[in-house]
Amino acid sequence: MIRVYENEDITKFYVKFRPKFQECLVERVLKFCNERQENDNQDLMVDVACGSGQATSAFQKHFKRIVGIDVSPNQIKEARLANEHDNIKYEVGTAENIPLGESSVDLLISATACHRFDLGKFFTEAKRVMKPDGCMALFSYNAPTIIPKNIKDPARRQVLSDKTTSLLLKYDKSYKYEQSNVYQEDKYRDIFKKVCAENKQWITEDLVMKCEWNLVQMMGFLHSLAAYHEYMKIMKEEHKDASEEEVKKWDRAVLLRDFVKREWEMEGVKDEDVMMEAHFYVYMVLANKLK
Ligand SMILES: C[S@@+](CC[C@H](N)C(=O)[O-])C[C@H]1O[C@@H](n2cnc3c(N)ncnc32)[C@H](O)[C@@H]1O
Repeated sequence: MIRVYENEDITKFYVKFRPKFQECLVERVLKFCNERQENDNQDLMVDVACGSGQATSAFQKHFKRIVGIDVSPNQIKEARLANEHDNIKYEVGTAENIPLGESSVDLLISATACHRFDLGKFFTEAKRVMKPDGCMALFSYNAPTIIPKNIKDPARRQVLSDKTTSLLLKYDKSYKYEQSNVYQEDKYRDIFKKVCAENKQWITEDLVMKCEWNLVQMMGFLHSLAAYHEYMKIMKEEHKDASEEEVKKWDRAVLLRDFVKREWEMEGVKDEDVMMEAHFYVYMVLANKLK
């Protein structure tokens, strides 16, 4: 099993800087369920690989009980600390061995995670815990499109948007786990094909979550990426005697910050005053009545 969200170096950033899932996504999932389920099925939802609860809490008011599970005890610790709702519980558990009874779940979701699962085992578990007419929603996003603010010339803004977005996208690629990159690059097309269900839908275009960010938040997002930590670990192992100055030459946090300050011509501006929009394009596989 891939274990990349384990220590506090990453989970502290995760809870603070990953986007919460927005109402447009929740509505889309519930519309799919309501159109296909015969009863008012809103008893139990499970969020598999819930992290610190970004998707779990978005569904809070729609279910009597919600359980978030994650393989990482530190993610679960952060999720519990951030939890404000009596109907949500967080437990350590895995996608391949979901700690719930048979035919108990009305909706199973998994956000920005299933590209890392053992999909064969996960689908068997999903079918086991879901009610016969239950629904499943698997969704994710890639690094966001960044649109600088306070840059008046539209052509220059577009160029800076393209350059910054592609740098962030490059820094979000895993070195070690190529298969998960492939699943994300094709926006879960392959995962959609692998899901066996009576009804299924693949959404790739029109679900966009928009966030107002400053440079501190963009750097926080970078620090919440597994790819950033994997890369730093590999580089530190390869350059054991590197000085602080040498580390700065390949530390992607330093490179990204320097890039933005230089290219956006904002060298004298405080990080919290460098403003931008971050647009997360969500892709999603919806399924009902797993086979
Ligand atoms: C990118 S985070 C997503 C967290 C959250 N769902 C979100 O959207 O922000 C991926 C999460 O998947 C968890 N994870 C990875 N493989 C898992 C598995 N096989 N079973 C349970 N959790 C897993 C990691 O610990 C991590 O918290």
